[in-house]
Amino acid sequence: MKGKVSIIGAGMTGSTTAHWLAEREIADLVLVDIVEGMPQGKALDLQEALPIIGKDVTVVGSNDYEATSGSDIVVITAGLPRKPGMSREDLLAKNANIVANVTRETLKYSPEAIFIVLTNPLDTMAYLTMKVGNLPPHRVVGQAGILDSARMRAFVAMETGVSVENIHCYVLGGHGDSMVPLTRHSNIAGVPLRDYIPEERLAAIVERTRKGGGEIVSLLKTGSAYYAPAAALAQMVDAILKDKHLIVPAAAYMQGEYGLSDIFFGVPVMLGRKGVEKIIEYDLDDDERAALEKSAEAVRQSIATLHELMDLS
Ligand code: NAI
Ligand code: 2OP
Repeated sequence: MKGKVSIIGAGMTGSTTAHWLAEREIADLVLVDIVEGMPQGKALDLQEALPIIGKDVTVVGSNDYEATSGSDIVVITAGLPRKPGMSREDLLAKNANIVANVTRETLKYSPEAIFIVLTNPLDTMAYLTMKVGNLPPHRVVGQAGILDSARMRAFVAMETGVSVENIHCYVLGGHGDSMVPLTRHSNIAGVPLRDYIPEERLAAIVERTRKGGGEIVSLLKTGSAYYAPAAALAQMVDAILKDKHLIVPAAAYMQGEYGLSDIFFGVPVMLGRKGVEKIIEYDLDDDERAALEKSAEAVRQSIATLHELMDLS
C-alpha cells in the first residue's frame, strides 16, 4: 500500500524531493507552500510527467494544510536558504517562526505523522519541531548526515575513480562547518580510507566535505543545494515507509548517547516505520570524541539562541 507524504515548502528542495519520490512510486504526494499557485503548478507539472516515466502516484499542490490530512510523513523544507556569505545560523530567527508554524499546522491534520526536517539551521529546527509539536523523539529526524556523507563519497570517487557504490563514508555531528567526517570508519570496499588515499589528499577531502554546502552556495549565488539534499530526503522517506531498518547518519534527539543530551545531533540512526528506531554508537577515539564535542557545542549555542527567541517550555 502506498503511503502519503506531505512536503511543506515547494521551493527547490521540496519540489525536487517530490520528483525523486515520484520516481520511487512509494507514496501519494502533497506539496504545500505559501506562494499562491506555485505548489499547484509544480504538482500538476510533475503529475503530467508520470505517464512518461510510468509511475502511478497522485501529486497535489496546495496553499492549505487540509490537503495534508492523514499524512504518514511530513517533510519540512519551508524557510529561507542561505545566500553567499551567510552561515546556516544566520537563518535561525526567520526560519524558527516558519518551522514552528508548519509543525503546528501539519499536526492538526496528521497527528500521527513522522517529521523529517531539512530547514536550516538543521539540528536546531529539528529540536524546535519536537518541542513545538510535543512529539516523542523517535518521530522527529533531521536530514544532514546522508548529504554530508554523500558529498564525501563523491569527492572520494573523484579522487580514486572507484564506483560510488563501493565508497562508504560517515559524517557525524551538527550540520555546520564543525561537522565530523570520520575517516577511520570510512572505507572503499572494506579497505580503510586512510590506507587508500594519501594523508594530505584525505585531509583536503575532509575540508571540502565540511565546506560542501558553502561551495554550492557560492556557485549558485541565489540559493543552496537541492538535488543531493532532496535525494537524501527521498532515501529517508523510503526507509521509513518500507520499514527497512536502514542505518544512515541523520540528526536525532540525544538522550545520553555519545555523552550528549537535549540536542539534535548527527549520529548513525536506524530508520523504520516508527521513525528513529535506534541510535548506533560507534567506538570513538579521543580525537573523534573531541571533534564531536566541539560540534555539539556549536549546536548547543544555536539551541540556546532559539530559547532566547522563543518560549519553548
Ligand atoms: P527555497 O527558497 O527554494 O524554498 C523554500 C520554500 O519555502 C519557498 O518556496 C517558500 O515560499 C516556502 N515557505 C516559506 N515560508 C513558508 C511557510 N510559512 N509555509 C510554507 N512554505 C513556506 O529554499 P530551498 O533551497 O528549498 O531550502 C529550504 C531550506 O532547506 C533552507 O532553510 C535551506 O537552508 C535548507 N536546506 C537544508 C539542507 C540540509 O541538508 N539540512 C540542504 C538544503 C537546504
Ligand atoms: C547544504 O549543506 C544548504 O545546508 C545545506 O547544502
